Amino acid sequence: MAEYDYDVLVIGAGPGGYVAAIRAAQLGLKTACAESRETLGGTCLNVGCIPSKALLHASELFEEASHGALAKFGVEIEGAKLNLDQMHAEKAKAVGELTGGIEYLFKKNKVTWLKGKAAFQDSSTVTVGDQTVTARDIVIATGSVVTPLPGVEIDQKVVVDSTGALALPKVPEHLVVIGGGVIGLELGSVWRRLGAKVTVVEYLDQILPGFDGEVRKESAKLFKKQGMELKTSTKVTGVTVEGDRATVSVEPAAGGAAETLSADAVLVAIGRKPNIDGLNLEAAGVKLTDRGQVAIDHDFATNVDGIWAIGDVAPGLMLAHKAEDEGVAVAENIAGQTGIVNHDVIPSVVYTMPEIAGVGLSEEAAKEKGEVKVGKFPFMANSRAKTNRDTDGFVKVIADAKTDRVLGVWIISSLAGTMIAQAAQAMEFGATSEDIAYTCHAHPTHAEALKEAAMAVQGKPIHI
Ligand code: FAD
Ligand code: NAI
Repeated sequence: MAEYDYDVLVIGAGPGGYVAAIRAAQLGLKTACAESRETLGGTCLNVGCIPSKALLHASELFEEASHGALAKFGVEIEGAKLNLDQMHAEKAKAVGELTGGIEYLFKKNKVTWLKGKAAFQDSSTVTVGDQTVTARDIVIATGSVVTPLPGVEIDQKVVVDSTGALALPKVPEHLVVIGGGVIGLELGSVWRRLGAKVTVVEYLDQILPGFDGEVRKESAKLFKKQGMELKTSTKVTGVTVEGDRATVSVEPAAGGAAETLSADAVLVAIGRKPNIDGLNLEAAGVKLTDRGQVAIDHDFATNVDGIWAIGDVAPGLMLAHKAEDEGVAVAENIAGQTGIVNHDVIPSVVYTMPEIAGVGLSEEAAKEKGEVKVGKFPFMANSRAKTNRDTDGFVKVIADAKTDRVLGVWIISSLAGTMIAQAAQAMEFGATSEDIAYTCHAHPTHAEALKEAAMAVQGKPIHI
């Protein structure tokens, strides 16, 4: 039998890779994880989920303190001012604590961190920096990178991607965001709250593709109310930079009169693509899908025996929790157990204010599969939202018309990201809308709106 340096080598220490490595080690496998960044945690911890949420939280506090939003509660603040350097420093502290935490977990679980860029030599041999290692099983978890916009050069000064937008040294006067998706809306919200004029240019006729139609419309209304300019059905035809200003040329997506937008910052956020750069997958014979993702089967196995792929580099939603769950499952499969991820029940959350969350099918997608019943409940009629003066949004429950099984739940609310977990759990257990309606929910909570929306599926909500 062949001797390997490791039972398992994971390439990439993002939420997919570090979780896979820890679980593999927990299952008694000799495990290493190759990571070329200076710190562990991948995109999510270093330049994604974590720093963006830190800035979303801080900018929300600033907006509340500086715009008199607290005065109606009797909290009067005068002279609130922005210290952007301190905001960035606190963000860096959170990132440092969390990436350091992964390093601690690696040590605790005896996962070896191989520092450097990994490249396949053959199906069980990989070089990492200047060392060569062999492993019986190899997990590709190299994540994703920003999709470039042809003809638009990212200089990380005036024209930035999400990484640059998380570290702007001053608040732009006018930030033009190209792409009305999750990154554009989250980071656009951060800089708008800190004082920038924000214009979002979106190619499609609605922001947030993939979300429920009604949710997309209502979200757009709320962002506009907050002062964000949304230019939908609009395409960017070019960006030129002169000194510290950019000129963004746009025209209607369907063709028509062109116009230009002058900006001191442009954020390109038109999606992300799988990261297979420099991996030398050809040496291992690993096949890709026609969209450039590493092709896998239901068990996360590639076409090559002993090579697996998870997270953003593989097909499916590009979300940290999807990557993490796949990390657990792939390690369990490698260990001979049965690792499963239910890809039909992966929640998505946009961490704006209010938050926008969904799990399962949109009403449009559900209707394509058969007859549905829909129940909706507005936060305007939820007592806790009323006490908090926090009544934007609604809950929408979509159920199969015949079986009543819940097919999708959508929430716009300050607490949507937390509330969606209950919906995901209910759906994981195959709940009907009646199951949710007859589950006792604590009063007064935002969560009662989910119960009422489920009651509305039967046409019998109480509080509206
Ligand atoms: P990654 O996190 O991308 O990690 C891959 C790692 O592999 C990287 O550290 C990379 O350096 C390393 N690597 C790549 N190639 C090699 C190689 N050849 N050798 C060695 N190492 C290599 N998702 C959410 O669920 N919630 C959020 O709030 C959220 N916010 C986000 C905000 C932003 C601004 C961005 C950009 C993304 C956000 N995401 C969020 C998405 C989330 O970050 C990704 O879905 C997640 O990080 C994917 O995890 P992963 O393990 O597949 O890959
Ligand atoms: P996205 O796919 O969410 O949105 C990109 C948007 O750009 C789409 O609306 C698309 O129609 C639009 N677009 C594409 N080409 C365009 C063009 N040429 N001109 C104008 N608009 C154009 O991608 P985004 O925002 O870059 O985020 C990438 C991924 O990162 C997300 O899909 C998500 O998986 C992940 N992410 C998740 C977060 C979360 O869970 N809260 C936060 C941030 C990112």
